[in-house]
Amino acid sequence: KSVKASAPATVANVSCGFDIFGFAVEAPADEVIVTLTDNPGVTISKIVGDDGRLPREAEKNTSGVAVLEFLKAIDSKLGANIELYKHLPLGSGMGSSAASSAAALVAINELHGNPLTREQLLPFAMESERIACGSAHADNVAPSLLGGFVLIRGYAPLDVASIPTPAELYCTLVHPHLELKTEDSRRVLKPSIPIKDAITQWGNIAGMVVGLMKPDYGLIQRSLHDVVAEPIRSVLIPGFHKIKEEAMQAGALGCGISGSGPTIFALSSERAVAERVGKAMQQQFDLLKLKSDVFVSRI
Ligand code: HSE
Repeated sequence: KSVKASAPATVANVSCGFDIFGFAVEAPADEVIVTLTDNPGVTISKIVGDDGRLPREAEKNTSGVAVLEFLKAIDSKLGANIELYKHLPLGSGMGSSAASSAAALVAINELHGNPLTREQLLPFAMESERIACGSAHADNVAPSLLGGFVLIRGYAPLDVASIPTPAELYCTLVHPHLELKTEDSRRVLKPSIPIKDAITQWGNIAGMVVGLMKPDYGLIQRSLHDVVAEPIRSVLIPGFHKIKEEAMQAGALGCGISGSGPTIFALSSERAVAERVGKAMQQQFDLLKLKSDVFVSRI
């Protein structure tokens, strides 16, 4: 018995919400075909789209770890084989590792008759994130599994909530052909922040939630700032400040680093604006002789 499933790219942090905000986009998405086997254990028979770079051992691959954790949790006597079709670029800040594990979990859960809810699958996907980058953050796996805009209210115990979004809200992703390892982009962050920055940050986080729920685009726009990670991480992305300036000029509500980068995201209240923003951002990467891909999605 086999099940095919897919899970989308995600934007983690969303500027102010480091490790606590994330949302799913429409595309790209990773796909898997998971097959139950009589022998216990998990194998990966095929990975397409990674140029041979992802580990083929289940214990080291995010989709494999997620399925192993799932089978252990439900005390299954069966095993599974995974075929993974990567459509998300690696090391892009678009939640590539999360999408693979989310898709694999949806498939293995379905193969067992869906004994667990999507939320109950989260800890297994978080374990995969730990394998991928040394930290079990949930701001990519939660939106990839649950869809929409998700708040990770707390980690111990895990407490997630979906935030309603305006009917018209569009995300532009511009992915320069560069790679950043999440592990490295986390290591450069400071272990503590001044209280003045904390006040700015939590004001923006609360503003973002209210802005999304009301909805109030002005409030969303004023809240899309990050004084914690962006000032440090932006130096790792060529032309970041100029690109952000261009996105704002083109009409974006806000612009920042998607997850740990180097992809840059922008939010807009109209699709036409989101597309214009994408062109303006890509043009800047062109000037830097950096190839890039643009994705526009409704959130
Ligand atoms: N919140 C995580 C980080 C997301 O910024 O390190 C990684 O994609």
